[in-house]
Amino acid sequence: MGIQIQVLFTKLSFVKLVFVKSGATSSNEVETVYGIISSSQSSSNMKQLLKSSKVFLSNDLIDKVLKRVRFGHANPLQTFEFFNYTGNRKGFYHSAFSLDTMLYILGRSRMFDKIWDVLDDVRHKDRTIITSRTVMVVLARVAKVCSVRQTVESFRRFRRVVSEYDTDCFNALLRALCQEKSMTDARNVYHSLKHSFRPNLQTFNILLSGWKSSDEAEGFFEEMKLMGVKPDIVSYNCLIDVYCKAREIDKAYKVVEKMREEDIMPDVFTHTSIIGGLGLVGQPDKARDVLKEMKEDGCYPDVAAYNAVIRNFCIAKRLGEAYGLMDEMASKGLNPNATTYNLLFRVFYWSNDLTSSWNLYGRMMKMECLPNTQSCMFLIRLFKRHERVEMALVLWSDMVEKGFGSYMLVSDVLFDLLCDLGKLVEAERCFLQMVEKGQKPSNVSFRRICVLMELANKQDSLQNLTQKMAMFGTVINPCNNSVSVDVSTLTHSPHN
Ligand SMILES: *[C@@H]1O[C@H](CO)[C@@H](O)[C@H](O)[C@H]1NC(C)=O
Ligand SMILES: *[C@@H]1O[C@H](CO)[C@@H](O)[C@H](O)[C@H]1NC(C)=O
Ligand SMILES: *[C@@H]1O[C@H](CO)[C@@H](O)[C@H](O)[C@H]1NC(C)=O
Ligand SMILES: *[C@@H]1O[C@H](CO)[C@@H](O)[C@H](O)[C@H]1NC(C)=O
Ligand SMILES: *[C@@H]1O[C@H](CO)[C@@H](O)[C@H](O)[C@H]1NC(C)=O
Repeated sequence: MGIQIQVLFTKLSFVKLVFVKSGATSSNEVETVYGIISSSQSSSNMKQLLKSSKVFLSNDLIDKVLKRVRFGHANPLQTFEFFNYTGNRKGFYHSAFSLDTMLYILGRSRMFDKIWDVLDDVRHKDRTIITSRTVMVVLARVAKVCSVRQTVESFRRFRRVVSEYDTDCFNALLRALCQEKSMTDARNVYHSLKHSFRPNLQTFNILLSGWKSSDEAEGFFEEMKLMGVKPDIVSYNCLIDVYCKAREIDKAYKVVEKMREEDIMPDVFTHTSIIGGLGLVGQPDKARDVLKEMKEDGCYPDVAAYNAVIRNFCIAKRLGEAYGLMDEMASKGLNPNATTYNLLFRVFYWSNDLTSSWNLYGRMMKMECLPNTQSCMFLIRLFKRHERVEMALVLWSDMVEKGFGSYMLVSDVLFDLLCDLGKLVEAERCFLQMVEKGQKPSNVSFRRICVLMELANKQDSLQNLTQKMAMFGTVINPCNNSVSVDVSTLTHSPHN
């Protein structure tokens, strides 16, 4: 296996050696290194194991190992030892991806001091890998657990760290605040820092999305003009969406006109917002016409546009039209998805219409559209309310067979139903199916089943289930009297 050392000249014009290996890193090597990181007792022990594994620690391998840690949740400090050790090898430079992933892992565990130590080390070695993406990764974690003030302080700290402290970094800060804090916080921070940066289109598109009040969105449009930034279709769509959600449909139409004057053609997102807005002001028919009218702008309705029209008819309780539109979708090759079906399931759930729900479920399965957790919850709750065990078991076995929905949430209702009606054999079977899928039944469900098994004197089954639960780390002794004495509260369903 040939190992080459490539020499690159970076824009800072120092020589940078990049460790590359001919041929891709194998997933075996990634697993080996991941295993060493997760199991090593000390950093010297880890270095020893890494050396004797003979795996070549290239940039590609390190990228993949860190990604593996990110999703596998290995110990962050041991992972950092690995990162630091590999990064300190003579002539080696980490990739920007490795750095950002390492910082994400530390941030997830709130090791912010460590983050700054790492950045300080890296800055002296190769500042070019610290980018606006790094700023985004770090600030997103900081904003999640710290105050707005602390987030802004962290942002200021980046000034002497990041390769270019520019508008992209400023935008990263605003994005973190919009996502983890409030739009108001983002707005205030924008105004306090806008003179240090040159706000661009991206800045405003971040600030425009997510407002509920049209005053605020209008304010930013004014600000954009002041700053000499021309709105694009994304900016306009944000404004239109705010107007539509606030039922100010006439204002939305005015913006569309203005767009046209500027030769910016409305797209399918624009039209979908309008459809939603018309629904909110009680004009589902007019909204349906938009589906046809949008073709004049050269755009075609997609699943989201149809869902918006169907939602309007569901709100207006005109289900015939809703069904008709689902047929129309299918005839155009646009398959209704779980969101579409849920619009109808919701109506049936609230009108307590078991038959229509059951039929719709049949249609959904026939169309090979997999239900999501929300669909399952509408169904299972209705089945429980009507005490239809056979329907609930069909849903459950479909879930087990096809792998959709949340076993955890659905099984709680299912076990309630089965225990209420004393269906112990079925409950046991479903319990075991769930465990086989690696999913842990809830403590409440487990206790209810245990109580029934005790009453039926099925000690063997009880022993079996207890063992299975123990595999998930739950140590409940179901034979403990303090559990089984409380039969009255346990057989009473907690979810009505
Ligand atoms: C990385 O390791 C070196 C050498 O062992 C050490 O001096 C440095 O402080 C470490 N970096 C961090 C951020 O802990
Ligand atoms: C259904 O499609 C719409 C439009 O593409 C999408 O926004 C929505 O998330 C989809 N729903 C599901 C459950 O995938
Ligand atoms: C207990 O589990 C074992 C294997 O998992 C099975 O063979 C046995 O029939 C079970 N006993 C009862 C009473 O369910
Ligand atoms: C379930 O019970 C076990 C043992 O009593 C406990 O450690 C665990 O936290 C409980 N889980 C939940 C979700 O309540
Ligand atoms: C039953 O549980 C109670 C409280 O959870 C505990 O104090 C007691 O020791 C347990 N008894 C047995 C026999 O395990």
